Amino acid sequence: MDLPCALCGSGRFIFGVILTLISAENITQKLKKALPVTALESVDSTNLLGLKAARDGAISGTTFVALRQTAGRGRLGRSFFSPQGGLYLSIVLRPQTEASAALSVTTAAATAVCRALDGFCTEKPMIKWVNDIYIADRKVCGILTEGAFVPNSTRLDYAVVGIGLNLTEPAGGYPPEIADKAGAVFGKENVPDEIKEALAAAVLNEFFALYDDAHIQNGLEEYRRRSYLDGKTVTYQKDGNTHIARVLGVDESVHLVLEENGQKIFLEAGEVSVCVNKQLKQH
Ligand code: BTN
Repeated sequence: MDLPCALCGSGRFIFGVILTLISAENITQKLKKALPVTALESVDSTNLLGLKAARDGAISGTTFVALRQTAGRGRLGRSFFSPQGGLYLSIVLRPQTEASAALSVTTAAATAVCRALDGFCTEKPMIKWVNDIYIADRKVCGILTEGAFVPNSTRLDYAVVGIGLNLTEPAGGYPPEIADKAGAVFGKENVPDEIKEALAAAVLNEFFALYDDAHIQNGLEEYRRRSYLDGKTVTYQKDGNTHIARVLGVDESVHLVLEENGQKIFLEAGEVSVCVNKQLKQH
């Protein structure tokens, strides 16, 4: 039997486990565009759900939202830590474009997440090239776009853009490998389910203000204005060497532009991961 939770007044208490529940209906009511939304308490990965749905013919805009993932997927084959206290969502898209436009999906999503967060926090969200959102020097969100080609073509059949937001710090803290950079939008504060629903709707509304299957606005001007790395000294690995460079900005082709030993270097998205050099950190 499900009972309202006596401890926090939200969610439900089932066999000793507090389940916070978001409702797809509450999210869709706040949307400017009708979208099929599924809301779940827990799932292996919303991106896996989205990829399967896309293969099964789901329409563009089909969205999966979850409060916890047991096998969250990150960039470069890494896992994405997805405990309770976060908001994880994936959107199935059917861009009528070349596969190269997948990067525009990521930049549009990054810009959309920042605009949505603007309505919920006082600190300005910034974008760490290519796909991370930072608030107060901490990564609070990661974005992963996956997809598939139309067979024997360079066109995209579908794309799934996944957005993972850390809202509240996990009870046991972050795992050691991300503890020095991960943070949560609301710190230690417990976030009511209504806020999670409102934030999910805001992200979707901001994203679909930029994205249309026939025409993707990449939000690049704002993306570049929100560039977290500008002016910072960073390290990156390439060709077996560690490089140290100063970030000049992000260019119109979403290259990270660096100054290294007096030379201008252009890094392509997906080519390398860039770390802020803590010892040499500059603003
Ligand atoms: C990264 O920081 O490496 C990207 C992380 C992307 C995580 C999101 S959470 C929602 C969606 N489902 C997943 O399994 N991954 C993405």
